Formats: sequence, C-alpha cells, structure tokens
Amino acid sequence: MILLDGKKISAEVKAEIKIEVDKLRESGGKIPHLAAVLVGTDGASETYVGSKVRSCEEVGFRSSLIRMEAATKEDELMKVIEGLNNNPDVDGFIVQLPLPKHINEENVTKAILPEKDVDGFHPVNVGRMTLGQPSYISATPYGIIQMLEKYNIETSGKHCVVVGRSNIVGRPMSILMSQTSKFANCTVTLCHSRTKDLASFTRMADILIVALGKAEFVTADMVKDGAIVIDVGITRVADASKKSGYTIKGDVKFDEVAPKCSYITPVPGGVGLMTVASLMKNTLLSAKKEIYK
Ligand code: GUN
Repeated sequence: MILLDGKKISAEVKAEIKIEVDKLRESGGKIPHLAAVLVGTDGASETYVGSKVRSCEEVGFRSSLIRMEAATKEDELMKVIEGLNNNPDVDGFIVQLPLPKHINEENVTKAILPEKDVDGFHPVNVGRMTLGQPSYISATPYGIIQMLEKYNIETSGKHCVVVGRSNIVGRPMSILMSQTSKFANCTVTLCHSRTKDLASFTRMADILIVALGKAEFVTADMVKDGAIVIDVGITRVADASKKSGYTIKGDVKFDEVAPKCSYITPVPGGVGLMTVASLMKNTLLSAKKEIYK
C-alpha cells in the first residue's frame, strides 16, 4: 500500500508556484492577488479560509480577507462581489461556502465574473470544464487529478466509482474522470444517497473516490483488493481527549481499508491540502490570464 501524501505533493505544487511568482517579481510583473470573502464565523470555514490566506503567503501571493457579519444581507454581499469583479488589482476571489441560510448560494456563485472565479463554481466554468474547454476546475477535483498525476497512476480504462454528487466535488469529479485526458479516461459510476446496494458498486471500483461527508462510512468489506482509494471527507468528530474538543475523520475507515489498497489518501494530510494548493494554481492562472485570454 502506498500513501498518497497530500502534504508532500501540495508542498511540491506550492514550490512550483513560488518559482513562477519569484520570476514575475524579478521581471516587474504583477504579483497575483487572491481575495476571500467570509460571511459569519463558522469554525470549519474559518479554518479553511485561514489555510488559504497562509498558503498565499507561502507562495508569495498577495491576499485580502473580507469578513462580513452572519446577518449580512444578500444585496450587501452582492455589492462586495461587484466591487471585487471591478477591481483590477484582484486577480481572483472566492466566497467561502456554506453561506448563512438567508443568502442564496446560486445567486452568489453566478454573480462572480467567470474570469475571476478561481473556485470554478460559476456555470460558465462548469460548462467549459464539462466540454473539455479551458476553465477553472474546482479546487478539490483539480487537486485529486494532480495527485494521480504526481504519482503517475495509470487510470485509463479503469472503473472509477465516485460516491457523492455535490456540485463542488462529486459531480465535477465524475465528469473529469470520464474525459479523454491522461489521468482520466475511466469508466465512471456516480453513486449517491439514493443508490441501492451502494457496496455492490464500491466493491467494483478500481478507483474509489468518496465525497460524502460521513465519518468512516466506507469499511473494508466495501473495497476491492488493490483498489485506489481517495478520501475527500473532512468531518469534525467530538473527542474529549483533544484540546480542540474534536478530531478530524475522513469518509473511509482508514485502519481497516488501507491494508487492502494499492494507494490511499490519509485524512488529514491528503486531499484537503491539495485543495488549497489547487486554488493557488487557479489564482496563478488567473493572474497570467491563461484561461480567459
Ligand atoms: N466550502 C467547502 N469547500 C469550498 C471551496 O472549495 N470553496 C469555497 N468557496 N467554499 C468551500
């Protein structure tokens, strides 16, 4: 079993980005600038946004964090988005999800200019990605593809089973893995909460990608010998023995599943770190105007 080491690979990706930023600085070019909007004080969102801001510092980007109160009205958030859309100093920006219930996430996603949508959530980017055209690919699926690439994992012709159909991970992942590119070309099955006899599908997977958000849901009996298992779950589970009061669990019962796998991602230290590195990559692409010329 080989561990797909998100810490190592994300550090490599970030080091490659830093080299490009250093070159831009030396040649007097514009330093990439990512802005993040955080509405409210959700603990997990604070952690994710904090890690995005820290990664910007690591790679040499500029970053801005715009904090808004949980009671912010949708039109107030829209004004901030319009300001960022029209600010030539900002190359790309994200609005951290989930948003408070009274704000419509679809309206927010659509309000971000596709050219600055480094999360790749705008319908134009999703459509372009689906058609195999240049686009921002949402950070988690992009991070997983980069991991497969860095470990040079043969995927062509394999059966990839994706569990979870979210707009952010499961659905785009299923589309990417079916495409005719080097680290894809799979036969894909997309499973979800209504799938009957889920284990009969997961057991058929050569590549199993789980993005459910249910701690330790996938057990050893659900996995084929030699499978490649990618665990996207990051769930906080109460743990009185920890200072924070919680421990982080993936969607896969790692200890019993890992011995059966050819490759597996740990949680933490796997896909989560790749997500942030991919956001940095998208921001660099945006600053260099490589997607929308
Ligand atoms: N919430 C969970 N994952 C993400 C992400 O990749 N981007 C944004 N904006 N919000 C998220």
